[in-house]
Amino acid sequence: MKLAEKSVNAILAPLVRGLGLHASGEAIAVVPGPAEKTSGALNADIGPAVRDGLIDEEAAAAILRDAAAQAGQRLPSCAAIEAAGEPLGTYWMDRTLDAARARAKREDPAPLSAAAPLPVTAALTAPSAAEGGHGKGNAAGEICPSGSSSRSRADVARNRIALVTGGAQGFGEEITRGLAASGALVFIADLNIKGAEELAEKINAALGKTSAIALALDVSREESAEQAVAAAAETAGGLDILISNAGVLKAGSVLEQDVSSFAFTTGINYTGYFIMAKHGGRLMRRQNRNAPFWKTDIIQINSKSGLEGSNKNGAYAGGKFGGLGLTASFALELIEYNIKVNAVCPGNFFDGPLWSDSEKGLFVQYLKAGKVKGAKTVADVKTFYEEKVPMKRGCTGPDVMRAIYYIIEQEYETGQAVPVTGGQVMLH
Ligand SMILES: NC(=O)c1ccc[n+]([C@@H]2O[C@H](COP(=O)([O-])OP(=O)(O)OC[C@H]3O[C@@H](n4cnc5c(N)ncnc54)[C@H](O)[C@@H]3O)[C@@H](O)[C@H]2O)c1
Repeated sequence: MKLAEKSVNAILAPLVRGLGLHASGEAIAVVPGPAEKTSGALNADIGPAVRDGLIDEEAAAAILRDAAAQAGQRLPSCAAIEAAGEPLGTYWMDRTLDAARARAKREDPAPLSAAAPLPVTAALTAPSAAEGGHGKGNAAGEICPSGSSSRSRADVARNRIALVTGGAQGFGEEITRGLAASGALVFIADLNIKGAEELAEKINAALGKTSAIALALDVSREESAEQAVAAAAETAGGLDILISNAGVLKAGSVLEQDVSSFAFTTGINYTGYFIMAKHGGRLMRRQNRNAPFWKTDIIQINSKSGLEGSNKNGAYAGGKFGGLGLTASFALELIEYNIKVNAVCPGNFFDGPLWSDSEKGLFVQYLKAGKVKGAKTVADVKTFYEEKVPMKRGCTGPDVMRAIYYIIEQEYETGQAVPVTGGQVMLH
């Protein structure tokens, strides 16, 4: 059967991952293998779900669910999928990407381990809201009540699949490093592919496993976003955490700024967030079809400038204010698929390249422009800005990570803006 789909793996791997997430209640990775029969695999024929060469993913998900229900008590860690007798692919699951790849290589479809089997559940019926734990509930009623675990907050990211836009530098790099150190698999999706590749290499060498993978991405181009999200699905089977972080700043007076400079800023900070939420959200919905209790997160890195005006910086602040409107609106719609949508609003990252770059950083620029009266050195300019913060320092990567962990761990909140400003902006 000839399929017109651009990427069959990007559709089928997340549907299979949904089965595994639902059965185990744990984050797993799914990798595609050759489309050959594997004895002991879960077999499913999605032929009836193919129409005009396109896969109806809802119908395909239902066929996979039925196959899993018939498979017995424990879900094999390989699914072999065909359409009307034509093999489409095999999909191997395990707790980490490296483990799933190793399993595919040795063609081992056994349930994950005797100590932690993947029990197959007869039907994927939604539990009551009170039961729906953060990736902890399954239809077998094996709920780990929230708050009863002894895991640390950073543990909420373990084995989860994350994609960080603009992840090669600045706050994005801090977030990438933080998530990888917490055991997540992180796609570093950046315009600067060289920077993303170098960072991925460093992280993987330091952690001794595949924890970071570089992807080329321009968030302002829909085709690029679609490709990057599909690449994450094809490589690891899905997405649990989308961090929409890529952002730019082009300051300018409302009386002087060019429309092109305004549109450039808005195209990345505002429209780029919509584009990423659209394609990331579609992938999360795909997984959710077979894992109704699995919660996923879209998190926008907004700014304190999304909470208060910024003089001669309207394109930036306006786009960030708009980002909070998108966050609240997407949250209302996507909770149907258990996707939470929240924003983090950091204060100024004085130690990051935007402020501290020795040539192009804002401190140097402000010193040269005489913006801070009496300032003779970069340090004087920095002190001037630190003094504006009640806590007398800039925002850091770990400050932002605490907010991200809180958002992921919190199962009863969506559509919110979490300030991380050292008291500079207080909500009312
Ligand atoms: N730096 C701060 O003081 C500060 C404060 C509050 C909020 N923020 C927000 O944090 C986020 C990151 O800011 P930063 O200062 O760390 O930025 P940065 O300039 O240091 O890094 C931005 C990264 O995004 C990438 N990027 C730029 N355009 C892209 C595009 N179209 N597609 C994909 N990637 C792209 C760049 O290559 C770079 O790696 C932004 O959303 C920003 O608004 C920054």
